[in-house]
Formats: sequence, structure tokens, C-alpha cells
Amino acid sequence: MWKLAIDIGSSTTKIYRADTSSGIVLVEPSCVAVAGEDREIKAIGKEAKSLIGKTAECTSIVYPVYEGEIVDMRLAAAMLKEFFSRVGVKPSALKRAQILISVPCGASERTMENYANLAEECGLKRVHFVEQPYLAAISAGAAFSESDPVFCVDIGGGVTNIAVASADGIIAGVSMNIGGNNMDATIQNKVSRVSGLRIGTLTAERLKNEIGSLSPAARGAMVAEGSSVESCRPAAASVQASDLTDCIRVYVDRILEYASMVLKKLPAEVAATVNRNGAYLSGGVMKIPYLAQYIGAKLEMRYQVSDEPQYATVLGGGAVVRDKDSLLHFAKSVE
Ligand SMILES: Nc1ncnc2c1ncn2[C@@H]1O[C@H](COP(=O)(O)OP(=O)(O)OP(=O)(O)O)[C@@H](O)[C@H]1O
Ligand SMILES: [Mg+2]
Repeated sequence: MWKLAIDIGSSTTKIYRADTSSGIVLVEPSCVAVAGEDREIKAIGKEAKSLIGKTAECTSIVYPVYEGEIVDMRLAAAMLKEFFSRVGVKPSALKRAQILISVPCGASERTMENYANLAEECGLKRVHFVEQPYLAAISAGAAFSESDPVFCVDIGGGVTNIAVASADGIIAGVSMNIGGNNMDATIQNKVSRVSGLRIGTLTAERLKNEIGSLSPAARGAMVAEGSSVESCRPAAASVQASDLTDCIRVYVDRILEYASMVLKKLPAEVAATVNRNGAYLSGGVMKIPYLAQYIGAKLEMRYQVSDEPQYATVLGGGAVVRDKDSLLHFAKSVE
């Protein structure tokens, strides 16, 4: 029987196969290219992402699950079905497969209903939903017991989840629409102001991922291509790493404000444990150099970063879906 853990992120969908030793079997951008008035599907995943900013007007790129919410059910189902087929699981096997899907921390009843409908649309019969912070903490090796709550911060492309969770439930937590995408948009504006170069979102993302840093001594530069603000003609300019620091830090500071609010709500004993154990940090954005150190210093707390932060959720999902008892334990009920 197939056992799959699925993390449909705002940026990337990850699938982990847990019934064999195969591990992560799919990593694809969570997007679909559609064309025309009837929004016919042209491409899904990597092929769709490669078209961003390059398509004719009649084609657009849609992220059907965005900031944790299913914003377009038809496209979300088509995307997920395509990903299942790329993994090699047939519709008949899907019906019997044990599936875990991660959902944002504190997902509302309405959101849960949408996820349940998505699962049904895809022909899944045995599906469980687990809130993201549990999975990130499990992948970080958190010893999950009632007496040992875990403080986790996951910064993804569209969403940041902050939570203090124990095996018993989420003691305090918040999911907010801040992530790498905001940083990319701010980088686009900054490069246009400072270097006089208009760049696309993919270029801004590449700048962030390749030279972005929160180091006070951030150096390095990268040549970016786009069009000149002045002449509107194709152009290139060198972008300094130090120009990107503010664009990243402004969002991290906002996240830290929320993190402090979550920490302030904790009962004293829970606060003591969190203080002792520190913070578990995950999400793709955590790969930015010195970001984890910055968070640790601001929170005045020990921290641990997942080895592969962008896969933390799906790796935790893999561990949970493998074991029936823990799957039933962590599953969030859908009314
Ligand atoms: N090396 C890197 N340095 C900086 N940022 C990175 C790096 N690699 C990926 N990212 C960023 O991490 C984000 C994606 O992270 P992740 O895969 O955790 O998000 P997601 O799960 O798809 O989205 P979300 O959890 O917000 O719904 C993107 O903004 C991406 O640009
Ligand atoms: Mg995520």
C-alpha cells in the first residue's frame, strides 16, 4: 500500500513516499499555466514556472493553493493529480493509499472543508490532515511529549507558521501571510530604484537565494538582467548583496513581532521548557545566511535549523504517515 505525505506549499509542492525507503519523490513548483477565457491548462509544475513573465497576454500562471488556502479548486485538483501521476501512483492505488496532507497552523473549518473536497476531487479515500508545526518539529527530532512543548518557526514562500506545540495540541500559534514572496517583491522595487533595472519575480527570487544575506558584512554581487527603467530597453546591472539585506530584514522583523506575541501568551511552565529547548527553525527562507542567527539573537534563545529547512514539513509528514498511531494522533478532524 502506498503511503504518501504531501506538503502543498505556496511555492513548492513536496511529496514523500513512506512505504518504501524512497524518501522525497517529488519537488515541483505549485503552479499551473492556463490560457484563454476557459482557462485551459497548458503546463503544470516546473514547465509552468519556467513560463513566468514570458507568456503572451492570454496565458497566466496560477498558484492554486496560495498562502495555505485553496484558491482554485479545479486547478489545485488538476495539479495534484498530475503530481501523483509523475510519482507513478495510479488512480486505483490512490484510492487505497494512506495519505497525509499538511495544513496551516490553526486552519479554519472552511479551509479544512476545502482540503477535504480537494482530496475527494483527487480520488483519495484515506486521507488525514496534520497542522504544519507538528510536522516541522517532528522532522527536527523534537521529542514530542505532553510535557515537552516545542517552539517552531517556519518561513516559507507565502506563509510563516509560528507555534508552540506539544503532542497534546497547539498551545499558542499563528499562521501569517508573510514569506519569501514578499521579500522577492521588495527586492524588485529596490533594484529598480537603486540600479535602474526592472527585473521579473524569478530574477528577484534568484538574487535573494544566491546572494541574499543578513550578515552585517554582506558582500558579493550578482549580475541581474531585465530592462532599463530609463530607456525601457533590455539591460543588465550588478546588484550588491548589501542592497538586499533590508528587503529581507523588514519581513523577518515583522515575523519576530508575532513570535514575541506567541511567546508572551505562554503559561510559565511552558515558557520555561521553551526557554530550555530553544526554537526549531524551518522553511526555505531559513537558508538565507545569518537569518537563523539573527532570529536567535533577537529572541535571545537557542535555536536549531532543520538540515534541509524547505523539506522539514514533508519529512515530518513522512515520519507521521508511516506510523498509523501517530497519524491518528496528530490528524486534525474535519467536521
Ligand atoms: N537558498 C535559498 N535561500 C533563500 N531562500 C530560499 C532558498 N531556497 C528557497 N528559498 C525560498 O524559500 C521559499 C520557499 O520555501 P518553502 O518551500 O518552505 O515554501 P512553501 O512550503 O512552498 O510555501 P508556504 O509554506 O509559504 O506555503 C521561497 O521564497 C524560496 O525562494
Ligand atoms: Mg511550507
